[in-house]
Amino acid sequence: MVTVVSVVGARPQFVKLAPVHKSLITNGFEHRIIHTGQHYDAKLSDVFFQEFGIPEPDINLGIGSHSHATQTARIMIGLEESLIDLNPDWVLAYGDTNSTLACAIACSKLPFRLAHIEAGLRSNNKEMPEEHNRILTDHCSDLLLAPTHAAMEFLREENLGSKSHLVGDVMIDILNLVKSSIEKEGDNLPLSIDPSEEYILATIHRQENTDYKDRLQEIVSSLQNLRLPTFIPSHPRLVKKCEEFGITLAKGNLNPVDPLSYRELITVALSSDHIVTDSGGLQKEAFHLGTPCTTVRTETEWPETLSGEWNRLAEPSKIAESILRQAPNTNRGTPFGNGDAANNISQLLKDI
Ligand code: UD1
Repeated sequence: MVTVVSVVGARPQFVKLAPVHKSLITNGFEHRIIHTGQHYDAKLSDVFFQEFGIPEPDINLGIGSHSHATQTARIMIGLEESLIDLNPDWVLAYGDTNSTLACAIACSKLPFRLAHIEAGLRSNNKEMPEEHNRILTDHCSDLLLAPTHAAMEFLREENLGSKSHLVGDVMIDILNLVKSSIEKEGDNLPLSIDPSEEYILATIHRQENTDYKDRLQEIVSSLQNLRLPTFIPSHPRLVKKCEEFGITLAKGNLNPVDPLSYRELITVALSSDHIVTDSGGLQKEAFHLGTPCTTVRTETEWPETLSGEWNRLAEPSKIAESILRQAPNTNRGTPFGNGDAANNISQLLKDI
C-alpha cells in the first residue's frame, strides 16, 4: 500500500486537509497525519478535526509559537525524526506557512518525495513571510499541484513547469460540500446575528496588518466606522497585538467575536453584505459564494477574484469607500476548479 504523510500545522491547512484525507482513503492510500503544533488553540485547531471528521494526527510535534526561524527550525527537527519513523512514499505539504517551509526543507534532504498542494501562488511581495515560504517550498518539491492557470504560469516562469500539474483548489472541494449542506439544512446564523439584518464580516490577521501600530489602528478605526454592524472573528494574533498597542476592538460598529468553526464562518459569509479581509482563503470563499469582498492588502495571490470587482484591493483609508461600491453582477466562472481537486491529486499520486 502506498503511504502518504500530510504535514499540517495552521488553521487553513486543516481545511485543505479535509478533502485530501477523504479522497486518499477512498482511493486506497494509507494516510498518516503529522500536526506540527504551530496552531494549538482549540478554536484554531481541534474544532476543524472534529467538524470535518479528520482522525487525530498520528503525531503532534507540539511546537507552538516562536519567532519565524525558531519555529521553522524546531518543526524541521521534529519532522526529520517523525518522517524517518513513518517512512512514507509521499509527503504532502500544504500552502505557505512556516510548517510548509519546514516540511519542504526537511524533505529535501530525506529520501521521501514531496508534493506541494497550492503550488505556484505568488504575491511578488517579499515583505510577506508567506511569499518566501511558497517560493522555497516549490523549489524543494518533486511534484507541484497548482490550483489555477496563473499559478501554473508562475511555475513555468521559474522553470518548474515539468513538475507542475493543474489540479484545481482543494478549498473549493470542501466549500462546495459545506455550502450545499448549509443550504439543505438551513443553519441558523451564529453570534446572535439577526438574519434580516445587513452586516459585514471582517477578518484581519496578517503580520503586515497587525504588527505595526499605526496601520493596525487605522484598519480598526475604519472598521469601527463602517455603515453596517461588522463582526470580526478575532485571530489570537489580532487580539494580542491590539492589547500590546492599547487598541480597543469593540467600539462603534465593530463587534469582536471568538474564531468560528469553518461551517459557522461559511454560514456568516453567505448571508453577509460584504466581506473585509486580508485572508487568502476568505477572498476566494467570498468570490465563490458571490459575496463582494474588500481585501486590505496591496496585492493578492488570487488575481482571479478581482474580475468584475468581486474583490477589490484597498488601503485602510479606502475600506469605507470600497464597501459602498455596487454589488457586481458579472459571471464569476470557476477559475479555482470544479471541486474535484483532491481526487485529481489522488489520481496523480496513483499514476506517478
Ligand atoms: C499563520 C501563517 C499564515 C496563515 C495563518 C492562518 C506563517 C508565517 N503564517 O499565521 O500564513 O494565514 O497562520 O491563521 O506561518 N497564536 C495563538 N494561538 C495559536 C496560534 C497562534 O495564540 O494557536 C498567536 C501567538 O501569539 C503567535 C501568533 O498568534 O505568536 C501568530 O501565530 P503564528 O502561527 O506564528 O502565525 P499566524 O499569524 O497564525
